[in-house]
Amino acid sequence: MTSQTLREARKYEEASEKMIGRESRPGFHLSVRIGWMNDPNGFSVYEGKYHLFYQYHPYSSSTGPMHWGHAVSTDLLHWEYLPAALAPDEFYDRDGCFSGSAVTLEDGRHLLMYTGVLRERQRDGGLCEIQTQCLAVGDGVDYEKYEGNPVLDEKDLPEGSSRFDFRDPKMYKREDGSYDCVVGNRGADGSGQILLYTSPDGFQWNFKKVLTANHSRFGSMWECPDFFRLDGKWVLLTSPQDMLPQGFEYHNGNGTLCLIGDYDQETDTFTEEHNQSIDYGIDFYAPQTVETPDGRRVMIGWMQNWDACGIRTPQELWSGQMSLPRELSIQNGRLYQRPVRELETIRKNKTEYKGILVSGEICLKGIQGRKTDMELNIRPGSKDKLYRKFAVRFAQNEQYRTSLSFRPHESVLKIDRKFSGSRRAIIHQRRSLVRSEEGQLKLRIILDSFSAEIFVNDGEQVLSVTMYTDLAAKGISFFADGQVSMDITKYDLWEE
Ligand code: FRU
Repeated sequence: MTSQTLREARKYEEASEKMIGRESRPGFHLSVRIGWMNDPNGFSVYEGKYHLFYQYHPYSSSTGPMHWGHAVSTDLLHWEYLPAALAPDEFYDRDGCFSGSAVTLEDGRHLLMYTGVLRERQRDGGLCEIQTQCLAVGDGVDYEKYEGNPVLDEKDLPEGSSRFDFRDPKMYKREDGSYDCVVGNRGADGSGQILLYTSPDGFQWNFKKVLTANHSRFGSMWECPDFFRLDGKWVLLTSPQDMLPQGFEYHNGNGTLCLIGDYDQETDTFTEEHNQSIDYGIDFYAPQTVETPDGRRVMIGWMQNWDACGIRTPQELWSGQMSLPRELSIQNGRLYQRPVRELETIRKNKTEYKGILVSGEICLKGIQGRKTDMELNIRPGSKDKLYRKFAVRFAQNEQYRTSLSFRPHESVLKIDRKFSGSRRAIIHQRRSLVRSEEGQLKLRIILDSFSAEIFVNDGEQVLSVTMYTDLAAKGISFFADGQVSMDITKYDLWEE
């Protein structure tokens, strides 16, 4: 039975999405139907379609009591909205249906697990959020909350662990048909830990062990975990709050962390071998993955960061978009990300130049636009002389530009969106140390109206930023201090 709260949200979103013109949204990135969006939730394949839910507050473009928005796609690029799936309408989730995940049950039903939030008055008069894990079962459109909710609460926590920071369950099916689930939590030492639970049927859940603990190494609380096998290793993705930068890693405050290691499934022992940021730009948080029917591990993140939300003003009708879905792999012990191969099916109008010499600023015929896929290969223009700086500027006109610049002597790539229409003094730049030999660098830059995602060296690193620059700023130019030789292949994306 659909509650009044959910019926109202569904009515509201259907009536108000019409106020947003197609051109004022991204083309192939999922944006919120109306209002506010954060984390991707319940990313899954169900009855032949990709389902992507998201943290959703339809009634304003800032955060509020969380619902789950819902969209489906067959190619991860064309998304169709479905009615909101969950609303905060039960005693255990009255203050929000927070992030969670989805699996398909043996009997073919779609099972969602999410965090129910209930504010509780504390003795000192303050309010704290009690967080529990809850279920909803559905058919891909309508979901019924489980009568046994919550299925995990403070009784299922190890001693000393916080019942206020206990959220974001990510379920997955094991080879023997049972289900496991990782949940973010704050342990007795006040920093993050990932709890592992197991269930024979998706409904009865039991605590197994602490899969891994932060011990205050990477930020504080760990949000939105995901855990999966990839290329013979096991990967734990999580989004730590309050991170301190370490060299060129972890600059985002609310950051992202990828731990790669081995996992003994008999004893549930995870042994960490490598850590890195997931994304090196400004706007990327709380990613979640799905395994595609052809066996690819595809990740999507919220292309925004809690620290930089001020880039959208409260007057906007929508705030929040997802990143491009990215295929993951492990190479040389690191996480690699490439745009999903489906992106190649929406490429058109190929423009190609080989060995263009750049010195000073140049524009090239056919190279412009805000929905583009550009591959650049650069190297010094003359063998014995390294250039000092190379830059690509896009979303450019007399007033605006977003710049990506590379200094080969330092091997540092910098994204700068200061002149991208923002009227706020939030962070607009990010520097990243990249691998480059003798001034050579490979870049793939994907623009989609309000974002740029830069894949460095075939996906060794990615930098994501949003930019809400006036769409009239469509120029792209190239600059070199010194001389650069550049190959470029550019496509328009989308069908406009
Ligand atoms: C991460 C997060 C999650 C939580 C959700 C609430 O961005 O804080 O931990 O479930 O957002 O919207």
